[in-house]
Amino acid sequence: MPGFEIFGEEEKQQIDQVLDTGVLFRYEFDKERRGIYKVREFEERFAAYTGAGFAQAVTSGTAALKVALTAMGIGAGDEVITQGFTFVATWEAILDTGAVPVFTEVDKTLNMDPADLAAKITTRTRAIIPVHMLGAQARIAEIKEVADSRGIPVLEDTAQAAGARLQGKHLGTFGACGTFSFDSVKTMTTGEGGMIITDDEELWRNMSEYHDHGHDHVPNPGARGGEGRRFIGFNYRMMEIQGAIGLAQLAKLDDMITAQKKNKAALREAVAAIPGVEFRTILDEEGDSATFLCFMLPDADRAAAVNEVLRENGVGAINFGENTWHFYPRWEHLAAGKTLCENGWPFTDGNRRRLVYDPQALPQSARLMARTLVYPIPVRLSGERLSQLREGLKKAARV
Ligand SMILES: Cc1ncc(COP(=O)(O)O)c(C=O)c1O
Repeated sequence: MPGFEIFGEEEKQQIDQVLDTGVLFRYEFDKERRGIYKVREFEERFAAYTGAGFAQAVTSGTAALKVALTAMGIGAGDEVITQGFTFVATWEAILDTGAVPVFTEVDKTLNMDPADLAAKITTRTRAIIPVHMLGAQARIAEIKEVADSRGIPVLEDTAQAAGARLQGKHLGTFGACGTFSFDSVKTMTTGEGGMIITDDEELWRNMSEYHDHGHDHVPNPGARGGEGRRFIGFNYRMMEIQGAIGLAQLAKLDDMITAQKKNKAALREAVAAIPGVEFRTILDEEGDSATFLCFMLPDADRAAAVNEVLRENGVGAINFGENTWHFYPRWEHLAAGKTLCENGWPFTDGNRRRLVYDPQALPQSARLMARTLVYPIPVRLSGERLSQLREGLKKAARV
């Protein structure tokens, strides 16, 4: 991670092409833009890269989730199942459609536990969102099996795993659709931005129209103002400059992943010397985007002791068990039902509490996350920093 490390001439050239036309907007201005349609081209290239039939660019990974869920027909009265280890955006988008998030345990893939998924399905479940966290694969085959047997569509939150694959097939292409984020910390970035991919043309059409106020994009004598609409939409349109940056970053994505894999392998070797360590289950090493290295110690105390030494040596790791943005028990605002809505919806209905999120509800995940340490993997890792990491890990191996 992240793509801004290698932001350079290619991105600048792409941006200049947009600035030269002065057309910053994805729609209209056909004469002035002189054949330059950066967002449209970015969508086409992203679809071709992932092997998907269609791609829809939007303003963020969160918008991608919201647009995808809405296009799938999800709304008030529905439940959507996701995992308790994800970024808050996944369930913010669910709540934003009017639906309610339900959380599963994660297993040693640090992604959705398919056994717990089966237990959490109810008659109200309308979609399942496995998240390919920290650049690597959820158990998508088992998850799909559970979902398909009940006729429930799967949306893959692939925000953190652009370019990752499972047995050669891109993550995000297994379910009904897959969503991506290109924010500041992602392997490929457009500053802010997101993408949805799907093979389902009707679903894509819903996304395309919903993300643009319902415009049906059918050519007509009245131009854009004369377009029709099938339903009420919203505005999640990507700008041409973001599309331009996306084209340059996409062209570098596989090379960034190759560099990350090399750096991850070097760090993994140093971590392997810690007694009792085990590594996160990666279902397909070849398809890992290698944005993070995750390892587990036998218990929480040992993980804390090891991390203490790492911190003292300037190479502290992340413990997502303590992280307030990514892990269910730490989402105090969700547990307390804090919303700006003055009547308390969707958490309360009048004085009645409708939704209860018990912080203790995911014990398997809590035990696992407390003993897991994580290093982000840079695209560029200096020899000096690698030596510092190796030294720190050597000392930690002695505690
Ligand atoms: C798993 C996951 N989903 C969704 C998002 C939202 O992406 P964005 O920041 O582009 O809105 C993120 C961002 O970090 C994420 O990690």
